[in-house]
Amino acid sequence: MCGIIGYIGPRNVVGVLMEGLHRLEYRGYDSAGVAVVDDGKVCGEKRVGKLSNLEEALKAHPLRGSVGIGHTRWATHGRPSDSNAHPHLDCSKRLAVIHNGIIENYVRLRAALAARGHAFASDTDTEVVAHLIEERYQGDLAAAVRSVLGEVHGAYALGVLSADSPDEVLFARNGASPLVVGLGQGETFVASDTPAIMEYTRKQLVIHEGEVVVVTRHGAEISTFAGEPVEREVTRISWDVRAAEKGGFKHFMLKEIYEQPKVVRDTLAGRIDDDGRTDLADAGLTDAQLREVKKVSMFACGTAYHAAMYGMYLIRQLAKLPVELELASEFRYSHPVVDASTLAVAISQSGETADTLEAARVARAGGATLLGVCNRVGSALARHADATLYTHAGPEIGVAATKTFTAQCAAMALFALHLARVRGAADPEELRQIAAALRESPALVDQALNADEEILPVARRYAKAKTVLFLGRHVNYPIALEGALKLKEISYIHAEAYAAGEMKHGPIALLDEAVPVVGIATRSPIEEKVLSNLSEAKARESRIIAVANQGDDAVLEIADVIFQVPQTHHLIAPIVNVVPLQLFAYHVADRKGCDVDQPRNLAKTVTVE
Ligand code: AGP
Repeated sequence: MCGIIGYIGPRNVVGVLMEGLHRLEYRGYDSAGVAVVDDGKVCGEKRVGKLSNLEEALKAHPLRGSVGIGHTRWATHGRPSDSNAHPHLDCSKRLAVIHNGIIENYVRLRAALAARGHAFASDTDTEVVAHLIEERYQGDLAAAVRSVLGEVHGAYALGVLSADSPDEVLFARNGASPLVVGLGQGETFVASDTPAIMEYTRKQLVIHEGEVVVVTRHGAEISTFAGEPVEREVTRISWDVRAAEKGGFKHFMLKEIYEQPKVVRDTLAGRIDDDGRTDLADAGLTDAQLREVKKVSMFACGTAYHAAMYGMYLIRQLAKLPVELELASEFRYSHPVVDASTLAVAISQSGETADTLEAARVARAGGATLLGVCNRVGSALARHADATLYTHAGPEIGVAATKTFTAQCAAMALFALHLARVRGAADPEELRQIAAALRESPALVDQALNADEEILPVARRYAKAKTVLFLGRHVNYPIALEGALKLKEISYIHAEAYAAGEMKHGPIALLDEAVPVVGIATRSPIEEKVLSNLSEAKARESRIIAVANQGDDAVLEIADVIFQVPQTHHLIAPIVNVVPLQLFAYHVADRKGCDVDQPRNLAKTVTVE
């Protein structure tokens, strides 16, 4: 979605704003702009396209000042253009506004403003806010902003700059558009996300929904829309700047694929011991609560949905609980049957995905207890949930989720083991074996990365494929789905995943020598079934790429290419099996010259429904 940055302090304000916007590019954007207060006037530049276009404009028209706001836009209302780029000004040109989210009642507001003589320079919803503040402003910017917030409906993070208030800049948050404040010495930073401020300060304040923050050189004052002061604990950014840099890798995505051993280890740390005993006290759900659960209802979007599906299989098999799984965007309209005995599990790495937040609201409204599985401390999901099981994947800059997926899968395996143990639902020895495999999984993920060299030439060979099918069974079916999603979202090659047993019910008609099939055929109680599905595909002239364990001769008979992975317990194997599929997608996309970290049409966090 859109990226927001603000700064007040002694530095070159445009330099800080532009550096911050670069750090936010991964959020996806189609235009960008900045505005500063200089010598009693609001001055700004904005351009459609990449930040380099804005940088060119700023070279031609340099801006100075000690307070400013910046924005990268991901169009929701009004096509990408210079005029629709933010910031937006009021008629007096003394106010500038930036915005991430949607003003749902902007059409009515715009008509009323136009009827009162306001002239609009853009097609955006955002611009109405600038004109509304203009009407309400009588010297107190915060009062004017608060008054307007009562009129605008929707989810937004807003930034407001006024030529008449050069010693402050205002921000407000409502709904799923994140906002953080970075506290420096005699300077203060504001951004949509931590990577944009971590270069300057490690001290941050997370702004919650329904809050206004007045930012000055000396810090930030938070209050509710009604003006009630809010005390907020300063949190320390544990991510170092390098964590948001590429660390020597060509793309953030590749760096993040290679971070997975650490990320899985960090997510398991302190939660599973050598005897396989699990401790999820930090999630905030008591064992007694878990024993009362009669049904689990899971929902998520995209990659997180695939992690939820993996969790579904494990919870059913180990905890012997009924589990429902639905896409978050469907859950909210499907009249889900939940009550106080239901545990709703919402998975979202950002914790800001609008569909998942809305589904979570529906689940809680139905009486369910909500467990969030999330990667962002202080995110909306974390605040709305009754309990939160955090993954510890660190900032994921690449739009395509990789390390957050394996972290989510590790969290799901932890949770299923914990649920099974506290409910006495499975043989303790079986749980101990699975727990031991889970504890070993970071090392196995590390070994799986060794396949990178073998995968590179295969990716080059298949970079011209028009479509690719991915097959998996049981806990490897969500891995096939994830492999297909990775390939399509970064290489733009059409890819589909099927439960391997489903091929004979129609999809096998697609197969011929032009349609390669990627099958997950690691050792498991159903390996034979998968091998026969791959044999059927081979008989239709498809080239077969198999994810398989070292030395598995049966697969060697069938596959044209093997992506080798180390063997482990079949219920834990998916955490390892996804790695070659991530690398395959990455190398195909890189070979095709695609924008791997910022694929077309995609945003890192989808904060609109
Ligand atoms: C996956 O690579 C995509 N980036 C996308 O499907 C993503 O997983 C989905 O939008 C959910 O995001 P979340 O985990 O932040 O809720």
